[in-house]
Amino acid sequence: MKILKKEKVLVTSALPYANGPIHLGHLSGAYLPADIYVRYKRLKGDDIIYVCGSDEHGVPITITADKEKISPKEVIDRFHNINKKAFEDFGMDFDIYSRTSLPIHHETAQEFFKSFYDQGILKEKKTLQFYDEKAKMFLPDRYVEGTCPKCGYEEARSDECENCGALYEPTELINPKSKVSGSTPVLKETSHWYFPLGEFQPWLEKYVEEHNKKYNWKDNVVQQCRSWFKDGLKDRAVTRDLDWGVKVPLPNSDGKVLYVWFEAVLGYISATKKLSEQLNKPELWKDYWQDPETKYIAFIGKDNIVFHTIIFPAMLKAWNDGNDSKYVYPQNVPANEFLNFEGKKFSKSRGWGIDVVDFLKLFPADPLRYTLASNLPENKDTDFYWKEFQARNNNELADILGNFINRTFTFAHKYFDGEVPEIGKLSKIDQEMLNLVEGIPYNVSDLIEKFKLKDATLEMMNLARAANKYFNDSEPWKTVKSDKGKCGTTINISLQTVFTLAEIFMPVIPFSSKKIFNMLNAKPVNWFDAGKVNLKPGHDLNKPEILFTKIDDKIIDKQINKLSNIENTAGQDGTKEITYDEFSKIDLRVAKIIEAEKVSKSEKLLKLKIDLGTETRQVIAGIAKFYLPENLPGKKIIVVANLKPAKLFGLESKGMILASEDKNGVLKIVEANKDAEPGSKVK
Ligand code: 2FM
Ligand code: ZN
Repeated sequence: MKILKKEKVLVTSALPYANGPIHLGHLSGAYLPADIYVRYKRLKGDDIIYVCGSDEHGVPITITADKEKISPKEVIDRFHNINKKAFEDFGMDFDIYSRTSLPIHHETAQEFFKSFYDQGILKEKKTLQFYDEKAKMFLPDRYVEGTCPKCGYEEARSDECENCGALYEPTELINPKSKVSGSTPVLKETSHWYFPLGEFQPWLEKYVEEHNKKYNWKDNVVQQCRSWFKDGLKDRAVTRDLDWGVKVPLPNSDGKVLYVWFEAVLGYISATKKLSEQLNKPELWKDYWQDPETKYIAFIGKDNIVFHTIIFPAMLKAWNDGNDSKYVYPQNVPANEFLNFEGKKFSKSRGWGIDVVDFLKLFPADPLRYTLASNLPENKDTDFYWKEFQARNNNELADILGNFINRTFTFAHKYFDGEVPEIGKLSKIDQEMLNLVEGIPYNVSDLIEKFKLKDATLEMMNLARAANKYFNDSEPWKTVKSDKGKCGTTINISLQTVFTLAEIFMPVIPFSSKKIFNMLNAKPVNWFDAGKVNLKPGHDLNKPEILFTKIDDKIIDKQINKLSNIENTAGQDGTKEITYDEFSKIDLRVAKIIEAEKVSKSEKLLKLKIDLGTETRQVIAGIAKFYLPENLPGKKIIVVANLKPAKLFGLESKGMILASEDKNGVLKIVEANKDAEPGSKVK
């Protein structure tokens, strides 16, 4: 018997930008793995808190706001609420889903900055940066566009070219244009505060290597750190010239905010403070963040590794060096690779993929959780396939787990008055089944503790597989007639197994586990007791409920057909080549939006009236999640004018407007040159 010490655990998941909806790829990367881990730890009786929240600053949010002519606050309020609800419906067991726009976050971030400043760690450096004299603002890199000095690409960013990959100084960009006002920006001197990451390199290398050795970090994480170390860590600017963000807490720093990554990682701390406040225990956060016994695990996707293994630990170290209070460092950062969708990257604009809100309108959360858990991108990128989802639901959840539970309950109600029967003399297979059940919580625990959650999920289903075999081999339909006592033993052991399954599956399919416990008329026990004999003979059972509903081919085929339509019409990757003649058949025109309104009963669609020079038309566009109708009139857009008319929600749509997508899945209308006349051809 293992002696198990109760651990103090702090778990965080990356704070998603409140700039777009959460999709299945996000879930597989940083959220479902953490939730499985946390739910298991809670059942094990560890002292654990799990915090997350929205990352609400940064340039992408201000760009969305500018484009939609709404405030950044409106953008973050919209997506914070959408994502918070989506996570709840998916069953995420956060103690808090906080926000970085809260005052407590601003204060926390400013306190760190101030401490570094007071310790003399930060260096002030002067640089030249583009300034928009019309808009009276410094322009972040993404706000300036011009011609690449290397390849001539006309939409290159101020410091790098998307087309040829060249990196250059902003002064080299040809014909720079501000994306805010369209004017030509000037280069103006500005100063920023730099964090001397390089000075922390020796300490960081030791931190990474020692933690890797002691806690067996994932290979992808360690390799990425080593490659950063090899290149040599450099000073990093931790302030920006922007209005939206956490203000720099120094005199004469109007218009300057903290760099979003500098403050976002501190969002984990401020979220825990907020939780303490909500629980009326203002000092509680220190019990976790400042207790050297705390095991801090940071769940993230692979694109966030450097921030959690290098930048955040360096910031904590800088704080700890200069203050009496000492923070704990991440003990492990189990970063996942990416989940793709049916062989390609998720892409909102092409409709490739599905977000959580839309998914949960079609199917319950548990089959999705189980499918994602069975195929987590732990060591390499993986894919979500609709057919696999259907098979996991029908052939595993319904046919293996659901079937075993259903058979057991049917027997208990039909032949034993809905009570747990007495257990009699044990046969060899009875004893083997009891042994298997007893050991399973330990096997699953070992895997979860090593963050092998995919294998843990497989192990859970393997118990259900073994249980079905046990049931078959015991042939209770025969013994019920020939030896009722023996039949009772089979059903007793099967019911104990149902209990074990309900508990060990709880981290992956919590909604169904709850139903199973309800059917058993029982409550979960400590994780390591889940394999013991938990149901006494004579215990009353409740009536069975439907646990998993099979998904029909028709429903899945409908989803797959949607994708093949997309594949046949558009896409960067996997697009079929077309000839110039074919292209010239597409009549692209400039149009001006005259009116816009929501399509009732649709969350996605807007009804637009557009001026095409010689005529006005109605176009139905899937942009309602990204634009308020009142901000659209007057915009000059580009339309596929000769698209065959179609009906959407019973409304005629004549033409299609062009839109592009950013990396967060936010759609932006492609706007035409402001001087272009409605109806003029786009070539
Ligand atoms: O990649 C992202 O979505 C970031 N907003 C993650 C931030 S994690 C932490 F720093 F808060
Ligand atoms: Zn270029």
